Amino acid sequence: MFDSFNRKINYLRISVTDRCNLRCVYCMPPEGVKLLRHEDILSFDEIVEITKTAVAMGIDKVRLTGGEPLVRKGIIDLVTMIGEINGIKDFSMTTNGTLLDKYASQLVKAGLQRVNISLDTTDPEKYRQITRLGNIEDVFRGIDAARKSGLSPIKINCVVKKSSTEPDALAVKKFCKENNLQVRFIREMNLETGSFSVVEGGNGGDCKHCNRIRLTSDGKILPCLFSDLSFDVRSLGAEKAIRLAVENKPVSGTANHLKQFSNIGG
Ligand code: 5AD
Ligand code: SF4
Repeated sequence: MFDSFNRKINYLRISVTDRCNLRCVYCMPPEGVKLLRHEDILSFDEIVEITKTAVAMGIDKVRLTGGEPLVRKGIIDLVTMIGEINGIKDFSMTTNGTLLDKYASQLVKAGLQRVNISLDTTDPEKYRQITRLGNIEDVFRGIDAARKSGLSPIKINCVVKKSSTEPDALAVKKFCKENNLQVRFIREMNLETGSFSVVEGGNGGDCKHCNRIRLTSDGKILPCLFSDLSFDVRSLGAEKAIRLAVENKPVSGTANHLKQFSNIGG
């Protein structure tokens, strides 16, 4: 699929839940976000149908996000179902890593190829402050489990305030070097004001070369993270929603007043 600015769209990011076991300060208020109603959340069958349609239209790269994808009940079954779709060349997940120790080997068996793990500091105290609830040891165990089970490459997502030379970012960089992990620095974004920048070490935030669309956990296709445009799969059908999203993908991001990171998955 090509959009109206001749960008090739081959990447679908699927948010499988708006729930998370952490409350990162830049993502959620302390009390968490207002959760979607159960009946508004796409079923596994719906997600798989939409993904199959997207793949038939030219998507060959799929990433599961959240919230935290591993808190969705039955996530291994969903990964298995998506893993069985022919035509996906790159199948990955973005996770906070705290539950990977439990799930990494099952994820590999289900067909997942690789993971991006969020880690903004190597300091246990600081990690607790940033995530409000998290224990950094869970993430370290999760990274080990991911490595042992063969998920590869493992990439670390590190959110920075301003630059990758901040002390926490430098510590994460060192940790990644020592542990053979790729690292990407993501400047803290603000959806409402539309402040975003290119991901250092990754492809996000680069509007000219953007190849992605998103599916929210309540069934909307979003052409751009920094836009209020959204196309509802349940009312339009998957093919039309995807086609409209691609046709209406803006040349570059502006701002998003309607969504939260917890619902889109970054
Ligand atoms: N700015 C930048 N990145 C964010 N993420 C969540 N909220 C923000 C924000 N405001 C990132 C997380 C994770 C991914 C899912 O999105 O750190 O790596
Ligand atoms: Fe959860 Fe990720 Fe948001 Fe942190 S950034 S609260 S881990 S969804």
